[in-house]
Amino acid sequence: MRVLSGIQPSGRLHIGNYFGAMRQHMRLQNEGNQCLYFIANYHALTSVSTGEQLRDYTLEVARGYLAVGLDPDKSIFFRQSDVPEVTELTWILSCLTPMGLLQRCVSYKDKIAQGLSPNHGLFAYPVLQAADILIYNSHLVPVGQDQKQHLEVTRDLALRFNNAYGEILTVPEAHILAETAVVPGLDGRKMSKSYDNTLELVEPANKTKKKIMRIVTDSTPVDDPKDPDKCIVFALLNLVADDQERQYWRDRYLKGHMGYGEAKKRAAELTNELLDPFRQRYQQMENDPDYVEDVLRQGGKKAREIAQNVMEKVRSATGIVTSYNH
Ligand code: ADP
Ligand code: TRP
Repeated sequence: MRVLSGIQPSGRLHIGNYFGAMRQHMRLQNEGNQCLYFIANYHALTSVSTGEQLRDYTLEVARGYLAVGLDPDKSIFFRQSDVPEVTELTWILSCLTPMGLLQRCVSYKDKIAQGLSPNHGLFAYPVLQAADILIYNSHLVPVGQDQKQHLEVTRDLALRFNNAYGEILTVPEAHILAETAVVPGLDGRKMSKSYDNTLELVEPANKTKKKIMRIVTDSTPVDDPKDPDKCIVFALLNLVADDQERQYWRDRYLKGHMGYGEAKKRAAELTNELLDPFRQRYQQMENDPDYVEDVLRQGGKKAREIAQNVMEKVRSATGIVTSYNH
């Protein structure tokens, strides 16, 4: 099974990214699938406006993935732009894409509502994403719920292409990562770099602790029972504690005689236990930038070989190439 997913280098990684996407990506890798994971830097151009920032975020995401367990011997890990053929396929797919299909995409409307200027890149974003997926003949695409519509666009475009030119592209399946994995941010909204409510993957442990200790809780008196399912601190414990300890805290909440401070302290300890090894590996890679660059370059080469194979068929079928022995 060929698995593919991408992540935009448009901000610092946070534990929402980890629990919502990266952890599952690592699991799929370790279950023996052929995984391609890439850093969607062309996509990030729709929101990151300086070269320096895009370079920084790209390296941060690369280090972050390697820190949480991406194994370059098992997975192909690369920069989207190291396979420039993907922009060629984007154009070919664009010529098969009805305007209405893109006009219906909610992510475009959402981004405009958030204040991004409505440029062509933002509008055509799902076509580039479709090219990302189709150029590697991917079978399975693990993504969050918010990407479901983009996967539908991808399937639609693959079918249109195959209808027009023959069975060349694999029609992929979305693997929507469980909704229960929506990690709340420090303010209770979805954890997101856009809301400034994140626990970053590799910030210093004392900063993580401080942020957790400052989470606003309700004013239920210490002795009263508390509702774990309405508490951000419990949501965090739920993610970082093992089954037994999760149950222990659920009982403590329900029984009362527990101050939120106690739960916060334990949540901070467990979060830091989880993040410490990531921080260490991240730091090692900061000290060895050549390693990261090398992994991305090697990954890019492998990915490009697969892409070039598919593109050869696409070029022949569309008549872009006039001689088969070109
Ligand atoms: P952000 O919301 O910070 O901009 P992205 O949209 O770049 O994050 O998300 C990258 C990946 O991480 C996506 O697959 C997304 O589903 C996942 N993700 C982001 N935030 C969360 C969250 N709070 N809970 C679960 N998954 C998340
Ligand atoms: N749009 C995805 C996101 O914001 C990132 C992405 C780009 C992607 N290309 C992809 C995800 C291809 C899966 C497959 O999260």
